Amino acid sequence: MKLVIDPGPTALGTDHIFLATSALADDAGLRDAVLRELRAIAASAAYLDWAAGLAQLQPFEPGSALRGGALSQVGLLRDRRLCVRVNTVERDLLLTDGVWVDARLRVFPFPDESAAIHRYCLARGFVADADAVIDLATGSGHNLAHFAPDIPGLGMDINPRALAFFGLNQRLNGRGAGVACLNDIRRGFADIVPFPQARRPLVLGNMPFGLAPTREILALTSDGGETGLVLQRAAFEAVARFRQTPCGRRARVVMLGYSVGNAAEDRWEMAELARDIVGATGLSWTILAGEGLLRVDGQRIMANPAPLSPALHAAGGCGLYHRDPAAVRAVYAELAQRLEARGMPDLSYLVVEFAPAEQGGLE
Ligand SMILES: C[S@@+](CC[C@H](N)C(=O)[O-])C[C@H]1O[C@@H](n2cnc3c(N)ncnc32)[C@H](O)[C@@H]1O
Repeated sequence: MKLVIDPGPTALGTDHIFLATSALADDAGLRDAVLRELRAIAASAAYLDWAAGLAQLQPFEPGSALRGGALSQVGLLRDRRLCVRVNTVERDLLLTDGVWVDARLRVFPFPDESAAIHRYCLARGFVADADAVIDLATGSGHNLAHFAPDIPGLGMDINPRALAFFGLNQRLNGRGAGVACLNDIRRGFADIVPFPQARRPLVLGNMPFGLAPTREILALTSDGGETGLVLQRAAFEAVARFRQTPCGRRARVVMLGYSVGNAAEDRWEMAELARDIVGATGLSWTILAGEGLLRVDGQRIMANPAPLSPALHAAGGCGLYHRDPAAVRAVYAELAQRLEARGMPDLSYLVVEFAPAEQGGLE
């Protein structure tokens, strides 16, 4: 099955993302003009409509009402098409790839997962409480954008293109307290981890967690292996090591994911994996019942949790991700059968959390 999307003439090279960042760094007036033009686009009914459905398979065309001179100058608008997706997160505008970019390298387009993490953390007071934030797979920086600009933040990601967007977004939004570094979570936390003075560090992770029983069924941003846990496992192993460090002992950990399991028994494979790897101390999990289970055609509308077979059937029909829904649905149907036979008939969208092993003080 060939899922690679031809990047086409509007694909923005990673070097162009860097050049745009440099242009904004050199010229505050240009930065302001770019922000103004992006805000006008992001608030327009046409853009909101585009971003909510299948029209986003192609780049957005702002139309003649927007002059777009500054966006053209920094190379983000070409042939009257916007070469990036723009997401509004709190007061910031986050630029990232759209789904038209090659799935092997594109940066995560959607702000909805970080919004779910944020709602979870906000409701529990973690947003106000955190004095440093570590984001295990930061993409263009959606998770950190939910925090005040002066909260020190470290983002890590395996994709250099994500770091390029992260830098562009920092510059665009005038943020100075966040850095990002290249890191494969399978090697653990980056060695530069950090924040010796932080009393209440918060670790966030929305690793790729889509169920992907075959390679290339999902993008780099979403491929979590057969049950969505391949990189969650790596992240929990990294967390377990981090929790041995002084900073790690004080850290709260909030990991978002999908998990197969059994809703009637509230038994979820992701929580069991977390317990087996990190340990039971401080562990809790919460099904995000107010969030739609899966994003299909750009919308999260399915009940959470839900039976696995119909959920995966719906996911296989996602027009943003799959060119050949029948083939994907067949693969998902086989997977659902296998998992049901193993006593896991359900799928949930959940947070697994570890409370700090040790509270507050510095040694
Ligand atoms: C679901 S996206 C989340 C991105 C970002 N947190 C957001 O909400 O926009 C998952 C991210 O994991 C990154 N990733 C994939 N494999 C990784 C690995 N082995 N180590 C670190 N990051 C990885 C991808 O590049 C992608 O940016």
